[in-house]
Amino acid sequence: MTKQAIGVFDSGLGGLTILSALRRRLPKEDLIYFGDTANVPYGSKSKDAVTRFSLAIARFLQEQGVKLIVVACNTASALALAELRKQISVPVMGVIEPGAEKAVRTTRNGKIAVLGTEATVKSRAYPKAVLKRNKQAEVFQQACPLFVPLVEENWAQTPAARLTAETYLASVSKSGADTVILGCTHYPVLKPVISRILGKKVTLVDSADTLAEAVQTFLTGNGQAAQTGKGKLTVFASDDPHRFKRLAGCLLADKIGAVRLKKLNV
Ligand code: DGL
Repeated sequence: MTKQAIGVFDSGLGGLTILSALRRRLPKEDLIYFGDTANVPYGSKSKDAVTRFSLAIARFLQEQGVKLIVVACNTASALALAELRKQISVPVMGVIEPGAEKAVRTTRNGKIAVLGTEATVKSRAYPKAVLKRNKQAEVFQQACPLFVPLVEENWAQTPAARLTAETYLASVSKSGADTVILGCTHYPVLKPVISRILGKKVTLVDSADTLAEAVQTFLTGNGQAAQTGKGKLTVFASDDPHRFKRLAGCLLADKIGAVRLKKLNV
């Protein structure tokens, strides 16, 4: 069991931010990453569709013999986690709970803002997870649908990104939140522009490190952590693996090697 891989999936590229955190913290673990580039974006789709895609990917990962599945996509975690846990026999971990946990531990004034896709915001998964931990917390949400295409176009450092962020974040500043959850896989790439606008007093929380820590605790607790060797990474995309590899290189310093095509039957 210890040498089995961890399966990680996202609607596309964004989950690579989570993959990096997992590789840093768990360098001995084999990882299989699946980017659903044929169906991205999930953030503007229905619960039904996102659940269907997520189940197809999780079944594929299960066939690869993974010991754990990490849903490295906020939208899929918000919409499909319960169904995945019902239908998939290996343990499944999402990004919402670790992100909420970290935000509750971070806030000093009890005011937390969540930035996410339209679907994640609509699901209220983050407010529910925060309020479960702290009933007194005030949670404010802002959907930022243009952030994902800006990152995918490698425009995170452009005036277009700054203007878009200023528009979305005006209401966040007004909310008085001292802690902001980056509730979408792509948003950590926009951290510099977001923190410049919100200022130093606001802490940005992304779930990548907290999730990696939770995965480590889980595997160690179950005696399933890899003990030796250097973990290897296998990457699949459901459409255009060449584009995936090129954009991954722009987004992340990590080397991801070859990207294989795996079409989904959905
Ligand atoms: N991975 C998605 C998320 O974290 C963002 C991209 C999409 O909309 O599919 O919510």
